[in-house]
Amino acid sequence: MAKLNVGFIGCGGIAQAHMTALSQIASAQMVGFCDIDLEKAQTYAEQYGGRAFQVPGDMLEALKLHAVWICLPPFAHGVAEMTCIEAGVPFMVEKPINRTAQQARRIADAIEQKGLMTAAAYMNRYRKGVNRAKALFEEDPPVLTLGGWISGTPQPDPSRPISVWWVQKEKSGGQFVEQVTHTVDLVRYLCGEAMQVSAFSATGFNTNIPGYNIEDAVGVSIKLANGGVALLYSCCASNAAGGISLNVYAHDHAALFSGWGHDVTISTTGRKKHEEIPSEPNIFEIEDQAFLRAVEKQNPSLIKSDYADAFKTLQLTLAADRALSTARIVKLGM
Ligand SMILES: NC(=O)c1ccc[n+]([C@@H]2O[C@H](COP(=O)([O-])OP(=O)(O)OC[C@H]3O[C@@H](n4cnc5c(N)ncnc54)[C@H](O)[C@@H]3O)[C@@H](O)[C@H]2O)c1
Repeated sequence: MAKLNVGFIGCGGIAQAHMTALSQIASAQMVGFCDIDLEKAQTYAEQYGGRAFQVPGDMLEALKLHAVWICLPPFAHGVAEMTCIEAGVPFMVEKPINRTAQQARRIADAIEQKGLMTAAAYMNRYRKGVNRAKALFEEDPPVLTLGGWISGTPQPDPSRPISVWWVQKEKSGGQFVEQVTHTVDLVRYLCGEAMQVSAFSATGFNTNIPGYNIEDAVGVSIKLANGGVALLYSCCASNAAGGISLNVYAHDHAALFSGWGHDVTISTTGRKKHEEIPSEPNIFEIEDQAFLRAVEKQNPSLIKSDYADAFKTLQLTLAADRALSTARIVKLGM
């Protein structure tokens, strides 16, 4: 079988996770590495055998790529996507897909016009436990959903770029937009679309952190189109305990997800035995394989989150942000 030529735009932390995953997939050949920090691109070009670039347009002109992985921080999107769209090269983009809805909308429109295949890296949608719960909740709609991410006080360290841009609201959007986007996306996947959002924040608990201007905690309440409610949260000021959780309660089923891997315990009314579904250790490989297969077979139905869908998740997190800044309930046009 002919190999698919893969390129990277952004060669930081998450790109490394995808490179490791793709190195396990026989049909993938990593041939292009692009980063504004050329040295980083060169490191991976040497490791995996390929060419290094500093500008996305140069990479797409020089190489015949079948797919590109865009692994950029929220504030750095735009040129990468537009270059791939113009060249007609399918891409997988990391979450959150952008810092602003305006730019994401322009990209989504251009993708639609071109009819380009895309994927967004909401890898939890590929988990067995998530899809088992989804099947149950399609018959028994969730009434109450609780979830979010709780972590300790961030410590920016110039040797880890993410730790520096992450604490800056204008660059990351804050923890709810940047990180809890995974939970928000799962709420959309399992419970359906949102209609209204309100939010409160906590600030002033984390102090003396260089560049820090994000919220210490955010609490968001969401009215869902199915009639249920979701209460979601972020906190990056809890140093004694924390974690990632998502608990979904329907009339006769409950799914309690825990940890980054979203191990799940599913309970059913009247059944003593719970269903336990552990997480997949190689979730990036599963997600990347699905996208490559979709590209190879020209079959977008293999992709569980595309750009247009991920744009809805971005819109919901940004609606929560608007609810915060205006202290009003924000209605979503869905
Ligand atoms: N799916 C997940 O579980 C997961 C996990 C971690 C990070 N992420 C997401 O991945 C994205 C990137 O995170 P990261 O940890 O890799 O960040 P990072 O800061 O480690 O890496 C980003 C890389 O992009 C490069 N870059 C910045 N602007 C660029 C540009 N215009 N052109 C080319 N390269 C550019 C930087 O030099 C850096 O090497 C974030 O949105 C983050 O939320 C997702």
